[in-house]
Amino acid sequence: MRKAIVAGNWKMNGSGASVSSLVEEFVALRQNGLAGDCDLVDVVMCPPELFIGNVVAMSPAGISLSVGAQNASHELSGAFTGEVSPVMLAEIGCKYVILGHSERRALYAESDAIVASKFAAALKEGLLPILCVGETLQEREAGATIDVVERQLAAVVELCGIAAVAKCVVAYEPVWAIGTGLTASPEQAQDVHKSIRSWVAKQDAAIAAGLQIVYGGSVKSANAKALFACEDIDGGLIGGASLDAKEFAAICQAAGC
Ligand code: 13P
Repeated sequence: MRKAIVAGNWKMNGSGASVSSLVEEFVALRQNGLAGDCDLVDVVMCPPELFIGNVVAMSPAGISLSVGAQNASHELSGAFTGEVSPVMLAEIGCKYVILGHSERRALYAESDAIVASKFAAALKEGLLPILCVGETLQEREAGATIDVVERQLAAVVELCGIAAVAKCVVAYEPVWAIGTGLTASPEQAQDVHKSIRSWVAKQDAAIAAGLQIVYGGSVKSANAKALFACEDIDGGLIGGASLDAKEFAAICQAAGC
């Protein structure tokens, strides 16, 4: 059985003070069994890079709370002003790194090839990529959803090999559902998740069966349970709702049912 996983993508939000209160409140809920049973649900917090150290320092052992970054360089060191290396992220205590988020693809021109090279660098340092894939509204309306998602996955598999998929989480995030309040219906999400698993299964059935595929796009406590109940949806990548400890805890709780 695949373990559920819920990751919070805080994006570029927060301050030292808000990070402390969010983590403190969430840790208390998790310790009291109100944020997903630790045996059933892995939880990841992905703060802005500057606050990663704070969150690591505030995460007690034994409650299965991991920390992830929202991006990483495709290089390990050198003259890359403003970049952060996967080596540094691993050293500071990150376990996961979100790669290929649609905001980075759209706003920072990250191509499939760049995302794949970042994926390769992250793996080298033992980080577990949370690889985001998903179509725009225009692509969905043109009937191209599956083609887009498969193209994004194929770029990684071509560079890193299918075995690399066993060391990542795939996040299906339809671009039209991110931050819009428009959630994909459980049926729409399940269809795409199933296609992703089948695409991987054609190359390696065991990897496909064990692959955690999470959904992202306007997930809230009110819609989480119906989404997570679908056979191929193993949890969520949560944006706005992860900034509220009680709401995020309720989503984690829904993943463990
Ligand atoms: P929202 O949950 O705010 O729609 O964001 C989803 C997302 O982009 C997570 O990576």
